[in-house]
Amino acid sequence: MGKEDNNRFGPVHKGEGEPLSETRRKTGRVIAYRIFSVSVSLCICLIWFYRVTVPVETDENRTGLDRSIWLVMLIAEIWFGLYWVVTQSSRWNPVWRFTFSDRLSRRYGNNLPRLDVFVCTADPVIEPPLLVVNTVLSVTALDYPPEKLAVYLSDDGGSELTFYALTEAAEFAKTWVPFCKRFKVEPTSPAAYLSSKGNGLFDPAAEEVVELYREMAARIETASRLGRVPEEARLKYGDGFSQWDADATRRNHGTILQILVDGREEDTIAIPTLVYLSREKRPQHHHNFKAGAMNALLRVSSKITCGKIILNLDCDMYANNSNSARDALCILLDEKEGKEIAFVQFPQWFDNVTRNDLYGSLMRVGVNVEFLGLDGNGGPLYIGTGCFHRRDVICGRKYGEEEEESDKIQEMIEPEMIKDLASCTYEENTQWGKEMGVKYGCPVEDVITGLAIQCRGWKSAFLNPNKKAFLGVAPTNLHQMLVQQRRWSEGDFQILLSEYSPVWYGRGKISLGLILGYCCYCLWAPSSVPVLIYSVLTSLCLFKGIPLFPKVSSWWFIPFGYVTVAANAYSLAEFLWCEGTFRGWWNEQRMWLYRRTSSFLFGFKDTIMKLVGVSESAFVITAKVAEEEAAERYKDEAMEFGVESPMFLLLGTLAMLNLFCMAAAVMRLASGDGGDLKTMGFQFVITGILVVINWPLYEGMLLRKDKGKMPMNVTVKSVVLAVSACTCLAFV
Ligand SMILES: *[C@@H]1O[C@H](CO)[C@@H](O)[C@H](O)[C@H]1NC(C)=O
Ligand SMILES: *[C@@H]1O[C@H](CO)[C@@H](O)[C@H](O)[C@H]1NC(C)=O
Repeated sequence: MGKEDNNRFGPVHKGEGEPLSETRRKTGRVIAYRIFSVSVSLCICLIWFYRVTVPVETDENRTGLDRSIWLVMLIAEIWFGLYWVVTQSSRWNPVWRFTFSDRLSRRYGNNLPRLDVFVCTADPVIEPPLLVVNTVLSVTALDYPPEKLAVYLSDDGGSELTFYALTEAAEFAKTWVPFCKRFKVEPTSPAAYLSSKGNGLFDPAAEEVVELYREMAARIETASRLGRVPEEARLKYGDGFSQWDADATRRNHGTILQILVDGREEDTIAIPTLVYLSREKRPQHHHNFKAGAMNALLRVSSKITCGKIILNLDCDMYANNSNSARDALCILLDEKEGKEIAFVQFPQWFDNVTRNDLYGSLMRVGVNVEFLGLDGNGGPLYIGTGCFHRRDVICGRKYGEEEEESDKIQEMIEPEMIKDLASCTYEENTQWGKEMGVKYGCPVEDVITGLAIQCRGWKSAFLNPNKKAFLGVAPTNLHQMLVQQRRWSEGDFQILLSEYSPVWYGRGKISLGLILGYCCYCLWAPSSVPVLIYSVLTSLCLFKGIPLFPKVSSWWFIPFGYVTVAANAYSLAEFLWCEGTFRGWWNEQRMWLYRRTSSFLFGFKDTIMKLVGVSESAFVITAKVAEEEAAERYKDEAMEFGVESPMFLLLGTLAMLNLFCMAAAVMRLASGDGGDLKTMGFQFVITGILVVINWPLYEGMLLRKDKGKMPMNVTVKSVVLAVSACTCLAFV
């Protein structure tokens, strides 16, 4: 998508000369990167050459053992090298996008396409109604003509409490939306607005609104705590609440649909349309998780407001930049390039992250580097939240097909007829979940849906304004983080093996760069195995005194040293460019290791088990609230363990193993002549780094006393396992 072929889509109309958006490239930086990249590639080739030609030698002449160690090292190094080449795709050709929303306003005024916002929630306990309400309110106050904007809340929890909270929000919106517009309030989520002000006082107009919000929040929280909806609300919204049967449960209930605010005509209060939907759920029908909810929303909204543009948000992601819809439209309505773009993805960013981002949640480099690279290759992945879609494209329109002209207000249809569209049986024998809407059958349905859209000829765009468009809640403990990563790695790996694999499904339809870009993520799970083996083998061989790498004094050491130092120095520099801190980078390196040696490994195992037919995947929602003490520890950036998990057992065992191997080697060094240091210097460095990086684990296992420490059980098991491994090894 170079500058040169911008004009493929016919002449620009008169008077519309200024483009709404622009893509830029930074040639100097890209060339410098490519030179660096080639130099590392050459050294990787040298490493391969060294490994192929130089055998591993143990003292006692045991060829079998030597050969196996050598082979494992060879395979791992080939894998690392190839994976490195794959990741180059996302740095080879980055583009930066800029939008000009003032031009959009001049050209279109209020004559913008309808926008339907889909907010999805699934559980009133894990995702508290007040959090959901704040997200909903933040989007109702987007800088967008209210008669063109509709907000749909899909509640897969089928919870009266969530519905009740939404009725409260509908009332409060009548004050909040005009207030935000009048005083240009940012951010437009009331809770975030309050906390951004701290204890600073507001002017009288704001005081009143804030007071109203506090009262509403108190009512919602009380209702949530008691698990009971206040009687007044039941009376007032009787036609809504009456849709819950006496025996309705979250897994067994009819469709519940209520239009709480119908703002489709320009009228006096002018607040956006607000709709609650809880699709039908029956135990005997599979509900396809969030993808199923999205598809029900697509159908239901098509009969109510039928927005041409759809924004999809997780319930914890509030709008922090009320201009984001206009920014997205600058891309989609751009006369030159807009026609070929199917969706505009904003980054998933969090406001709940501490300074040094202990769990690497922000994925700074992913957002600020890799996604720009994907954009240069044809477009970013669809990541399931913070994404503006064209309705007809997500419903199956191919690139080049005529667009349907329908942006008119739908005729009023009986809600009873619309409800049918959200029933369990509606999708039987239809293309929904296959060629239409969000695809089913994969834990990361969003990625596969985005890929299918790109394979139909569309591009996508990545927009990352300085002021982040949407802010979510990041996992605040290690376990949540690892569970989330496990699901992602598993889903991405499944895509690679499925009929929608970017490799064969995408071949010839999307660029090679983009295929490789997808592969970076799809290969997360399998990349766990070489990382695990390599790190364990390096430590164990240090323990046994088997040198695996060239002597530090040898010429052959140069490529190993260069790759290690250069790649890490570059990664640090990149992280600092992305406004991270040094400790943040260090934390991210730790998470890099932990994700591979736990989440990805389990994701890999799960996928393989499923392939051979042993297990089914379950969609795990990650909790959005933390208890008070844990929140304190999170603020202090102390790593949170606290639960017994097989993933922790693995991490603990590996950490202990590294520690013992290092200790044994250091003891041998102290009693010997220092010969080890010459032959195994590099192994000392690798194992030493592993030990240092594992420090929070040792602390959590051996030193800490608080509730967030590693459970005793896990610590004991880890130590026993590591000791037995070392003892066995000492006798082989
Ligand atoms: C987010 O983190 C802050 C501390 O940085 C904490 O006070 C707050 O409770 C957290 N919010 C949630 C929803 O976890
Ligand atoms: C969110 O919005 C506020 C208020 O406009 C702004 O100060 C802050 O920088 C934004 N946050 C991010 C992460 O962009």
